Amino acid sequence: MKTRPAILLAALALLVTGAIAAELKITLPAETTVLRPGKGAELAQANCLICHSPDYIQTQPPMPRKFWEAEVKKMREKYGAPTPEETVPTLVEYLAATYGIPDAKKP
Ligand code: HEC
Repeated sequence: MKTRPAILLAALALLVTGAIAAELKITLPAETTVLRPGKGAELAQANCLICHSPDYIQTQPPMPRKFWEAEVKKMREKYGAPTPEETVPTLVEYLAATYGIPDAKKP
């Protein structure tokens, strides 16, 4: 019987890609961090956790409102966050109030 190398090769390729696909099953650990409650938390939940974990926000040291304004601006303009413009003031308010420097400590 004449062997047909092309068919054998194709079968081998299918087997190999099948094996690789089976090995690449990735199970990510469950997210355990949540954003702190507060006015606007749901909005932040919907807009800020699309791309990354709340850890990115939680692990920042308490920062002034200006920082949070700049963060939201950067997420929208540099990283392409689909956050609607009209939600920005509420988000900044939430972030500054929840992860900001308390008003009393401001100079
Ligand atoms: C389109 C995806 C996307 C969305 C939506 C998004 N981010 Fe980010 N964010 C990023 C990327 C990318 C980084 C940088 C990751 C890195 O450097 O490893 C980042 C990093 C951060 C950091 C860490 C500090 C920094 O500047 O790198 C903070 C804080 C942060 N994001 C806050 C927010 C907040 C608040 C929102 C909601 C308004 C938000 N992100 C929504 C993509 C996004």
